Amino acid sequence: MSYYREVGHYYDKDAVDFERRYNLNPALQRIRQSFRERVKSHPQSTVLEVGFGPGFDLVHFAEQFPDQQYYGIDVSAEMVRLTQEKIDSYKLKNGQIAQGSVEHLNTLFPDVKFDMIYVFFGALNTVDNLDHAMSCLRKALKPGGRMVLTFVNKYYLAGTLIELLKGKPRNAFARWRKVWGGYSPTNYLASKCYAPRSISKKVKLPLTYSRGYSIVYPAWYYHKLHKLLPSSLLHLLWQIDDSVSTTKLGTFGEYMLYEFQSEDP
Ligand SMILES: C[S@@+](CC[C@H](N)C(=O)[O-])C[C@H]1O[C@@H](n2cnc3c(N)ncnc32)[C@H](O)[C@@H]1O
Repeated sequence: MSYYREVGHYYDKDAVDFERRYNLNPALQRIRQSFRERVKSHPQSTVLEVGFGPGFDLVHFAEQFPDQQYYGIDVSAEMVRLTQEKIDSYKLKNGQIAQGSVEHLNTLFPDVKFDMIYVFFGALNTVDNLDHAMSCLRKALKPGGRMVLTFVNKYYLAGTLIELLKGKPRNAFARWRKVWGGYSPTNYLASKCYAPRSISKKVKLPLTYSRGYSIVYPAWYYHKLHKLLPSSLLHLLWQIDDSVSTTKLGTFGEYMLYEFQSEDP
């Protein structure tokens, strides 16, 4: 089976209760809100989302900005179905989606160039070859256009320490391996994690901003910690994260966001 069929099947199964799990997870909601703010802070008219999942963001943006055009691609047939259902039920005229990966962009939307391309939560950790995927995205970007790209980070320092304290060295260094098996301990998904310094080399566009998430604020999957810690402490940890997110310490967060801008001609 080809790699993208595998990834597609994985997310077809994951789609069943993806929204329910997300709605129960305040950490993910907080992080998504921050991702959205970054995207919204730039002027844009023709936007591409890679890996839209059940369509949270594509539908949110398309509803909020009816004069802007939103395109999306996703390898999972089930995620495409869920998102198309939302586009139809909200009667959105400015949302268009297709099934496929980044490498298929030139056949899925051959005549469209984008001034904003964004990827939230994971799709670029599951591309066959990030250098090639980025060259496909660069070709689809208008001069002066921007990308807001988010990645599962390779060096999650607090996570490594927590797993070592739990006596789980395999988990502690799982992201450092050539292939990472994904978040689920029971459902393997061949993925790759990247060190922050390698991202710029692969994207090959000027980096305009970057920040980390969950540096001291517990990662979204430490459910017990989120339940155990008082909300005032969680809030404080989030604030500490915010204040160090763009420093060197930020590069040791669980998740990373990077912004790039192509040069004007
Ligand atoms: C973890 S989900 C995140 C979904 C959504 N972006 C969100 O923030 O909730 C990752 C999504 O990316 C899609 N995906 C994974 N690899 C992809 C690829 N190479 N090209 C396009 N979509 C991909 C998956 O099918 C899935 O829907």
